Amino acid sequence: MRAEATATAATVRSVFAERFGRPPEGIWAAPGRVNLIGEHTDYNDGFVLPLAVDRHVTVAAARRAGDRLRMVSLQQGEEELRLADVRPGTVRGWAAYAAGAVWSLAQEGAPVGGLDLVLTSDVPVGSGLSSSAAVECATLLAARDLYGGPEDPVRLALIAQRAENDVVGVPCGIMDQTASMACTAGHVLLLDCRSLAAEQVPFAPERAGLALLVIDTRVSHALADGAYAERRGACGHAAQVLGVPALRDATEDALEAARDRLGETRYRRARHVIRENDRVLAVVELLRGGRLDRVGPVLNASHASLRDDYEVSAPELDTAVDAAVHAGALGARMTGAGFGGCALALVPADAAGAVADAVTAAFAARGFRMPVVFRVHPSAGAGRLA
Ligand code: GLA
Repeated sequence: MRAEATATAATVRSVFAERFGRPPEGIWAAPGRVNLIGEHTDYNDGFVLPLAVDRHVTVAAARRAGDRLRMVSLQQGEEELRLADVRPGTVRGWAAYAAGAVWSLAQEGAPVGGLDLVLTSDVPVGSGLSSSAAVECATLLAARDLYGGPEDPVRLALIAQRAENDVVGVPCGIMDQTASMACTAGHVLLLDCRSLAAEQVPFAPERAGLALLVIDTRVSHALADGAYAERRGACGHAAQVLGVPALRDATEDALEAARDRLGETRYRRARHVIRENDRVLAVVELLRGGRLDRVGPVLNASHASLRDDYEVSAPELDTAVDAAVHAGALGARMTGAGFGGCALALVPADAAGAVADAVTAAFAARGFRMPVVFRVHPSAGAGRLA
């Protein structure tokens, strides 16, 4: 175990013993993710290319008699409820992610009962690094190991996604939970969101003298929730007009031919999705060919498309991307749903400090809240620590 993971495991173990008067039966961790490329493609049956980051939700857990869930978060406080009372819409706040995951496992027919849980997280909340998927996946793995259930990580990702869709009420796609469950260290995960075929593609920026930086803008714009559902809707309509099951199946020629029937907004939404799928496959080819140094322009094109065609960027994200590229990043883009959250930048390792400084200076010049810039390493997916 990494030194940090060992320390975190010791913390949740001792809080668990103090709070519940007995040791936990085990400790589990699930990572947050950044998406290298493939944004707003997952719910269009397309391709995504996320990596797990070295930031985790860690859970100490033990079974208890009856069906109570007692949940302690070191950051968010305590919640207690009965599993029988967890239903779509009944649980609010952070507890919905944990309780939802246990509920969703029970929906599979697993003989799930009560649980005591202590959670801690160093995934920044609300920043687009999928802290919620990490809570779901860590809790789900704990419940699965203690009560039984499916082994396959992709199957588990679907169970975690159902928690978010049905209990939390967010209509997310399958990317975040699959990344948290199925990524491996030193790789990005190429996920075909239609077949759910997952392939590990080697990704080692440090071997190419590069570093992957995450720029957390620390803003989240109020539009985010409604706009996500609205974009999903627009894509569904566009697919209908084009006569295809999903935008995954559409071509640019068909899109051009249908431009008038689609209307300008749906046309541009669909154009983003079609081109973004191509960009994912282009990046995979470059990675397979050992040409990580050529990925930058594809990241930049993805950002421009999300900003101009899909319209899910934000001034802070555009500022982060522009400043990073001007300061020497090979490429940069917003990552995640958008409207705030994080951008990523692929930079020469020896320029990492200069890029971080340039981004910070650009934010100061515009009067934005100070961003947090940190380096991430492609890390392992969810697992049991002890
Ligand atoms: C959020 C959702 C994902 C995906 C991204 C956009 O992270 O949870 O399913 O749609 O936005 O790519």
